[in-house]
Amino acid sequence: MTVSRRNVLQYGSMAGLTLAASSLPRFAIGQTAKIKIGVMLPFTGTYAALGEQGLNGLKLALQANGNRLGGREVEIVTLDDEADPARAPANATKLIKGDNVDVLYGTVHSGVVMGMVKVARENDTLLVIPNAGAGAATGPMCAPNIFRTSFSNWQPAFPMGKVAYDKGYRTAVVMSWKYGAGEESNGGFKEGFEALGGKVIKEIYVPFPDVEFQANLAEIAAAKPDCVYVFFAGGGAVKFVKDYAAAGLKQSIPLLGAGFLTEGTLEAQGEAAEGLLTTLHYADGLDLPTNKKFRADYKKAFGKEADLYGVQAYDSGMLLVTGFGAVKGDTRAKAELYAAMGKTVLDSPRGPISFSASHNPIQDIYLRQVKKGQNVVLGVAQKAVADPARGCKMQA
Ligand code: PHB
Repeated sequence: MTVSRRNVLQYGSMAGLTLAASSLPRFAIGQTAKIKIGVMLPFTGTYAALGEQGLNGLKLALQANGNRLGGREVEIVTLDDEADPARAPANATKLIKGDNVDVLYGTVHSGVVMGMVKVARENDTLLVIPNAGAGAATGPMCAPNIFRTSFSNWQPAFPMGKVAYDKGYRTAVVMSWKYGAGEESNGGFKEGFEALGGKVIKEIYVPFPDVEFQANLAEIAAAKPDCVYVFFAGGGAVKFVKDYAAAGLKQSIPLLGAGFLTEGTLEAQGEAAEGLLTTLHYADGLDLPTNKKFRADYKKAFGKEADLYGVQAYDSGMLLVTGFGAVKGDTRAKAELYAAMGKTVLDSPRGPISFSASHNPIQDIYLRQVKKGQNVVLGVAQKAVADPARGCKMQA
């Protein structure tokens, strides 16, 4: 028999009893209360568009499940993390201790997510990461309660090393913002490229989220590499791609990137992005039924085209639906919840994904080229790519 809190209270009052809430069985209370999700995303700044997709995709998945997890209604609490790592621990703590959220969800920026990981570990709160690729989250800081539905920064970058080498490039300059995501993405490219005999001859970093690239573009021109690999995303990616073309470099030194460079940005980049090669675990035009349905549903719900960030958010929602479904919404059944989530295979718009022992997706990385304002899939750059999860001690 299932006893809901309302039933107990009604029965209590019908029988003329005074029944203090504290004397109710905890399970009964837990099962009728809403499941709260604390959403930390950047809703302002260079990553604002990524944050918007990160919330929309989650909502879409939850709506498809009647806005319920394991039968319990869901409530979302949002917080703008402003892509500011310094405030991340306090923000995550506020959601967990102040708003009493059951699930922490976020974020986009690798530095911010590390603050969330720390706080989630301390409180054994479930954390679902819909973007930020910080290697440590599913590496040295991996934990049973931490899941990522997106990628590690290494994942889309490493396969580009071979793509570049196979195109005949032997020297490269890498460039990015100076923080975890840029350094790890460039590191992944370098590892793939140099393992084959290529050489990264210069590494250029600018402070996040600066977009003054002129001096660096002059440095690149002077270094005369065979190619340039960059990590930029959001508003900064728009600016970099336009500046690279305007500086006249696009014709002489091929620009390569992790696919974030041209994700959700093509309209703003226009002609400057045409022809660019990128590697990523998604492309809008993937000819998969789940992708087509997802894209149509997203457009209908939000009046905009979905991009990768919406996909990852949608998959996060589906992972929560599966996990909480397995424990029938019982937030205290943590071990069972985490086990069910770890075993989940998602029919993602990007193609099927499973989770590694460190709770990071195992996924194909596509090679894409911008053609007529679209990221067109040229093929699979590397199949079933799993992050090496260096430093993660957790067993499946
Ligand atoms: C990150 O900081 O991990 C990050 C940010 C934006 C992206 C990808 C990764 O598009």
